[in-house]
Amino acid sequence: MSVRERPHTGLNIFLRPDSECARWYREAIQYIPGGTSKANLYMRPHPLYIRGGNGCWATDLEGVERLDCINSFTALIHGHAFPPVMQAVREQVSRGTNFSFSTPEELMLAKLLVERLPGLEQVRFGNSGTEAVMMAIKAARAFTGRDRIAKIEGAYHGYYDDVQVSFNSTPPGWGPDDAPASLPSSGGIPKHRIQETLVLPWNDPEAAERLLTRHKNELAALIVDPLSNRMGFIPPAPGYLKHLRDVTRTYGILIIFDEVISLRVGYGGAQARYGGDPDLTATGKIIGGGFPVGATGGKGEVMAVFDPGTKGPRIASGGTFSANPITMTAGLAAMQAADQAAFARLEEMGANLRKRLNNVFKKGGVAGQVTGDGSLFRLVMTDRPLRNYRDTVEPEAAARSSRLFMALLDNGIMVNDNGLACLSTPMGESELDYIEAALERALQALSRNS
Ligand SMILES: Cc1ncc(COP(=O)(O)O)c(C=O)c1O
Repeated sequence: MSVRERPHTGLNIFLRPDSECARWYREAIQYIPGGTSKANLYMRPHPLYIRGGNGCWATDLEGVERLDCINSFTALIHGHAFPPVMQAVREQVSRGTNFSFSTPEELMLAKLLVERLPGLEQVRFGNSGTEAVMMAIKAARAFTGRDRIAKIEGAYHGYYDDVQVSFNSTPPGWGPDDAPASLPSSGGIPKHRIQETLVLPWNDPEAAERLLTRHKNELAALIVDPLSNRMGFIPPAPGYLKHLRDVTRTYGILIIFDEVISLRVGYGGAQARYGGDPDLTATGKIIGGGFPVGATGGKGEVMAVFDPGTKGPRIASGGTFSANPITMTAGLAAMQAADQAAFARLEEMGANLRKRLNNVFKKGGVAGQVTGDGSLFRLVMTDRPLRNYRDTVEPEAAARSSRLFMALLDNGIMVNDNGLACLSTPMGESELDYIEAALERALQALSRNS
């Protein structure tokens, strides 16, 4: 029986010391620190190396094919080698890859995003989600004339100094529940920068109001991911985002939505789904069709800080590869194919899958639950009710998550090692069956070995 029809156990050949992956890794560590440029790919005894992908399947260097449920950290909404994107990119490559002047493709993708996202009147492009967040923060500072920002505990916003704060805090140092400590989540950040970032708890409107009021004259912006992966995709409680909006508006603090991942929840992103009326939005991932991308957009009066042709507080923004025509062309083809019907289908499949997988957890005897919205889902290895980041932090949960990740790989499914996963448009009913069967087997393996 083909691996595509039913998950096979015993697929983790790549873990063997004589595997192709082991061989590449042994050489890679001589030239790249830890063997990988992306710390989140690091795993023991060595990373999984991929030879290629097609649609929703990807094949490792040992020739093992798995269902790809992580899709380049959610960036590939149509899976691998999506024909309309490939075709558009081939045509663009034949005309050149980047120029020192503007190209029309930038306008076409900008228009598409402004037409879809309620919070966007204008947008500018960069090369990553990290850069999009960085530019949104700079815009907020230039617009308000204030320096500090606030963020939510447990939320990840890329690897930029101001936001690498308190996304992986642990007790006992993490401070009170209603006034989380500002802690470095990475080395290399100046100490004063860490304290500049104020940290709020998720889904606690009273605490947020108290902290924002106390620091109202210093804060340029509050950055919010409406559906944060690192926080376990815990949705905003009813009224929470509106409360944040009302308080920040009173004090002239801007709200930045980080929709680098959450844009995937629907045609108009999480801001259309949950509201919140952001002044600025940072996004990326799916809008690049699989190529490096970031976009910072928002209300016209704020976005004017990027306009080189007008007077007022100005941001010097550039980037050799910003808005390069390959990314813009690929992004346009991917986003045009991700139309209302495609999002509706993904949403229906996602809701169905989350229900099925939650049942598997209930029957499997391993603590865990499946969260998420639209095509996004996350295997969170605790069965506690989830209200904020702290509810997801249990001493054994991270270890269970890593074991589940390996067990799923062994049964033909690729997710992230924190349980982050997503669907792609080439998937259908048979892939949902496949995921359900793989999770059943993986949980059985975990129960046997615990
Ligand atoms: C919510 C969120 N914001 C920002 C980023 C940074 O994006 P990039 O990895 O493209 O720099 C990520 C990356 O995963 C993310 O999940």
